[in-house]
Amino acid sequence: NQTTSCDLMVFGALGNLAKRKLFPALFQLDRAGLLAPDNRILAIARRNMTTEQVRDTLREELEAQLGLDDIDDAVFRQFVQRVDYCQLDFNDTEGFSELNGWRTPGNQLIVYMATPPSMYGVIARNLRAQDCCTDRTRVVVEKPIGHDLDSSRVVNDELAEVYHESQLFRIDHYLGKETVQNLIALRFANNLFASQWDQNHISHVEITVAESVGIEGRWGYFDKAGQLRDMIQSHLLQLLCLIAMDPPSDLSADSIRDEKVKVLKALKPITRDMMDQYVVRGQYTAGTSEGRPVPGYLEEEGANRSSSTETFVALKAEIDNWRWAGVPFYIRTGKRLPEKYSQIIIHFKPAPHYIFDPDQKHLANNKLIIRLQPDEGMALKILTKDQGLDKGMRLRQGPLELTFSETFEAERIPDAYERLLWEIMRGNQYLFVRRDEVEHAWRWVDQIIRNWQDSGEPPKRYAAGTWGPVASIAMITRDGRSWYEDI
Ligand code: BG6
Repeated sequence: NQTTSCDLMVFGALGNLAKRKLFPALFQLDRAGLLAPDNRILAIARRNMTTEQVRDTLREELEAQLGLDDIDDAVFRQFVQRVDYCQLDFNDTEGFSELNGWRTPGNQLIVYMATPPSMYGVIARNLRAQDCCTDRTRVVVEKPIGHDLDSSRVVNDELAEVYHESQLFRIDHYLGKETVQNLIALRFANNLFASQWDQNHISHVEITVAESVGIEGRWGYFDKAGQLRDMIQSHLLQLLCLIAMDPPSDLSADSIRDEKVKVLKALKPITRDMMDQYVVRGQYTAGTSEGRPVPGYLEEEGANRSSSTETFVALKAEIDNWRWAGVPFYIRTGKRLPEKYSQIIIHFKPAPHYIFDPDQKHLANNKLIIRLQPDEGMALKILTKDQGLDKGMRLRQGPLELTFSETFEAERIPDAYERLLWEIMRGNQYLFVRRDEVEHAWRWVDQIIRNWQDSGEPPKRYAAGTWGPVASIAMITRDGRSWYEDI
């Protein structure tokens, strides 16, 4: 199961993403024996540091991210032996020639750009200028790919000047989450669900990705993005695609991505006159998080006090195709909500003829709950008879439960980045986002942003530690439904 021999260059290796996600993931892969013995890692950044100093910082970072007890000395030594450091100004074309000296001839080269997207084109061109990449090089980039359709095209064009689409691995880390991949298994390995997965049997779908964190010192980035660009354009639309797509003919990257693109193309545009009913935009004010007082968005460090950037979005998406006509997808995501949890709920339609207690009619629909985090798992809510002589034929709704950590005993669920890095090393693109997916997602999101800009309406306020503006509850209750609450 080991990866093939590869050299991994990490640009921006001293940045937040590399420290928090990439190095811990690489370390875990090494610890699990999944890295080939000659896999090497070149950390590249501007700062003047030696390899030894970088290795020392890595130890501190890994201890901070994974916990002291998790760092075994021997494993750590084996891991850091793989890591070298190169100080480089990414604009210095000549400087890139140094990188060639480090490479192991014959090894697969992977270039990971853990940098702001504005650097992608520069790095790609400089690598090409110094013959540091070949047609076999794999290139990894992170979101955001642009901040709207036009700017995403610029980023994609810059990359396309140097690399073919088959070399590009655009990360959406939600696709690396175990339960997200499980959506594919759930839908296409279980005929039970396959035959129920359409507007004949499903009334509506809910997707909630709630975060308890605030802005975490990222005001500069976040204020230009907002929750719609930061979360919905990428993670939530990817989840929606995996739920809504037609069965792919096989598991190849393009078969899956072709089907996802069809869903994105079929998303009904949300026009200006639909906005009041279809979209709610919120911004948190001071409140509490996990029992302690926290400031509002406009009082966060570095905040522009008059910002109208949203930290919460709830919306109703509709898919104009045969399978999903008339089935709304209610989506909500926000910062500083009461807890971190992500969940998808498929609400099935009730039986065509109801014969039980009329007072219990509201119970009479099955729900499939897919928990992405925490406690990854699934629950199917089914109706049974309440026990006991005196209960007659009263109904009770109970779950058929599958909690991964309990059912598949103690198997550690790998972090999304472990899975993604491993797939990159194996050259498997099915968990990465293709250019047309990014662009169709932007096209749909851009229209909502334009509507907000045209209306000039500020976001609705919600106190930190609550479930968003009351308008987001009104949005769904207007349709005779409510957000699922069995958290
Ligand atoms: C990132 C966003 O892509 O995803 C962050 O930029 C967000 O704003 C994060 O907090 C959420 O990821 P996860 O895996 O913690 O749900």
